[in-house]
Amino acid sequence: MSEKTPEIIIDTHGYRTHNCGELRATESGSSVVLKGWVDTTRNLGGLLFIDLRDRFGLTQLLFEPTDAPDIYALAESLKSEYVISVRGRVEKRRGEINRALPTGEIDIIVDDIIVLNTSEPLPFTVSAHEKKQQNAGEDLRLKYRYLDLRRSGLQRNILLRHNLYQTIRRYFDRENFIEIETPVLMKSTPEGARDYLVPSRIHPGRFYALPQSPQTYKQILMIAGMDRYFQIVKCFRDEDLRADRQPEFTQIDVEISFATEEMVYDLTERLMSDIWRDIKNIELLLPFPRLTFHEAVTRFGSDKPDTRFDMELTDLSEVFSGSGFKLFEGVLENDGKILAIVAKGEAHRGRGAMDRLDKKVVRGKIGAGGLIYFQLPDDGSRAKSSVKSELLGEDFVNAAVEKAGAEKGDLVLILCGPEPGVYAQMGALRRHMAEELNLIQTDEAGDRKDWNFLWVTQFPLVEWDEKNNRFSAMHHPFTSPVPEDLEAMETDPVRVRARAYDLVLNGTELGGGSIRIHQQDVQRRMFKLLGIDKAEADRRFGFLLDAFRFGAPPHGGIALGLDRIAMLLAGASSLREVIAFPKTQSAQEPMVQSPDYVDANQLEDLHIQLVELVDKSSDESSGKQS
Ligand code: AMO
Repeated sequence: MSEKTPEIIIDTHGYRTHNCGELRATESGSSVVLKGWVDTTRNLGGLLFIDLRDRFGLTQLLFEPTDAPDIYALAESLKSEYVISVRGRVEKRRGEINRALPTGEIDIIVDDIIVLNTSEPLPFTVSAHEKKQQNAGEDLRLKYRYLDLRRSGLQRNILLRHNLYQTIRRYFDRENFIEIETPVLMKSTPEGARDYLVPSRIHPGRFYALPQSPQTYKQILMIAGMDRYFQIVKCFRDEDLRADRQPEFTQIDVEISFATEEMVYDLTERLMSDIWRDIKNIELLLPFPRLTFHEAVTRFGSDKPDTRFDMELTDLSEVFSGSGFKLFEGVLENDGKILAIVAKGEAHRGRGAMDRLDKKVVRGKIGAGGLIYFQLPDDGSRAKSSVKSELLGEDFVNAAVEKAGAEKGDLVLILCGPEPGVYAQMGALRRHMAEELNLIQTDEAGDRKDWNFLWVTQFPLVEWDEKNNRFSAMHHPFTSPVPEDLEAMETDPVRVRARAYDLVLNGTELGGGSIRIHQQDVQRRMFKLLGIDKAEADRRFGFLLDAFRFGAPPHGGIALGLDRIAMLLAGASSLREVIAFPKTQSAQEPMVQSPDYVDANQLEDLHIQLVELVDKSSDESSGKQS
C-alpha cells in the first residue's frame, strides 16, 4: 500500500517585490510579485476581482476571461484564505478609484498564480473589510486566535502595542535608564495576590514562584548601584479575573535611586506625554492633577476616580443626625455614613424604574443594603421621598436636598452603611449612573479632554484586614511611611500615611508605586506591623534585609500596567483585545488548551502526587498536591 506523497509546492516567483499595502499609481507599468491571503472575490460580468491581503494592506487583482483562460480558471477556483503568490503588471484603475484604500488607484493584471496553500472554510470570516467581519463569540475567537489575529481590529491593536514598546524604550534610554531583566523563576513577593508556583525537580518539596512583580529585585538593583532601572516585564498573579486583569500581564517597571515623589511624577508624566503624542497625536496637559486618597474616596467613592464627569458624593451624615429615622440612626450610632449623589434631571423616573435600580443595581450588582431617594418635581413643588414622611420628616429631606445641591427635576440617591464599604458602594453607583445617563461623551477623533489623568497620593500605609484579623499593606510591605508618621506605626497604624501614589486614567488604575523603605530597622518594624514575625521575615526577605546593611541608597519607583495603557489607547473594553494570546475569565487559553494535565512521570520527577480530584468536570485545573 503506497500513498502518494503530496507534492511540495515550489514558489518559483521568489520573494515578493512589494507588500499588499505599498503600490501606487506611480508604479504603473512595472512588473511585480505579491503574496498574501485571498480576502474577497467579486465577479462583475466576467471581470474577476480578488483582494489580496497581508498585514500591510489590500491590493486588488484583476482577471479578464480573454487574457489567459487558464489563469482566469485558476483564479476563479481560489477560495477565501488561500495563500497565493501572483506575478503581474501594475495598471492604473480603469474603473473608479477607491479613495478609502491606499492602493485604491491601481489593479494588478495577473499573469501567473501559484497556490502556496489552500484553506478549509473558516469558523468565522477574516476579511480586512470591516463590514464583512462576522461577530464571532469570544471562545471561538480565542480557540482560533491565529485567524482572529488576521483581522484588522486586532492587527491594529498589536501594532499599537509594538509602537508603545518602541516609545517606552526610546524614552527610558534617553532619560539614562538601563533595561535589566530579572528572573522569572523567583521567590514569592507579596503583591496581594496568590502566587503561581513552579515545583523544583532538583530540590524536592521546594517551589519557585513566578514574580507578581520584580519589586524586590528592582530594589536590590538600586543597592547594586544601577541608579536608574526599567524593564518591560511579565508579571503573574493568581487572582480573580476581570476585564482589566489578566493572570499574566506586562508592567513597565521603574526604579530610581535618590528618588523623590516629585521626580517620579515628572518622569511618569513625561512618559505618558510621549506615548500620547506618538500614538494618538495628542498633547497632554502637564502636570496631572493630584488628589489625596482621602479626597478621592470622599468625593468620588473610589481610589481610582473617573473625573470625566462630576456627580460628586455629598456626606449627609450630619444633616440626618437626630432625624429619628431608625435606619439612619443605626448607621450613625455605629460611626457609619449617609452619602448622596444627584442625578440631574432624573426625577421623572417612575416607581418601577426606581425599584429596578434598587433591586438589580443597588442590592444586586453593588451589594448595598438598599436605596433611598428623593425626587424633586419639575414644577418646584416639594420633594417626594421614598421614605414615608412619618418616618423621615420633611425638614430633614429639604435640608438634605439643599446640602446635596439638588434642584428641581433632580433625583437624589442615598446609600448608608459602615465605612469604608459605603464609599465604595456609592462610587459604584456613581459609575453606574454615569453609564446609564451617558455622561461620558468622547470625541471620535480624540482630544485631550477625553483623557483624565490624575495622581492619587497619601495613601494609608496599612488597612485592617477583617478576614485575616491583621493589618495588610495598602501597596506592599516595602513602601516607606511618611517620616512624620513613623512613630504612629506602633501606636496608631491606620493613621500612618505612606509615601505611595497611584496613576489613574479615566477611572482605571494605570500604575502604582512608592518611595521605599531603605533601612533595615524600619523594614523590620513594617514586617512586625504586618504580623510577619522575625523568623518568617528572615526566611522570606532575609536577602533584602541583609542588603539594607550594606549601603542601600534611598530609592523609589513605579510600575505601570502596559496592557491597560494599550487597552485605553486602543479604545478597547478588555485587556484581551490588546494581548496576542490572552487568557479567558477562567484563566484558560483555549487555543493551546492550558492549563492541562501532565504525564504521571513528569509529576514523579517533580515529587508530586495528586490527591483524588472530587469532580474533574467542575474544577479541571485543581490538581491539589498532597
Ligand atoms: P501594582 O500591584 O499596583 O504595583 O501593579 C502596577 C500596575 O500593574 C497593573 N496590574 C495589572 N494589569 C493587568 N492584570 C493584572 N492582574 C494586574 N495587576 C496589576 C496595574 C497596576 O497599576 N511592584 C509594585 C509597583 C511599585 O511599587 O513600583 C506593583 O506591582 O496597571
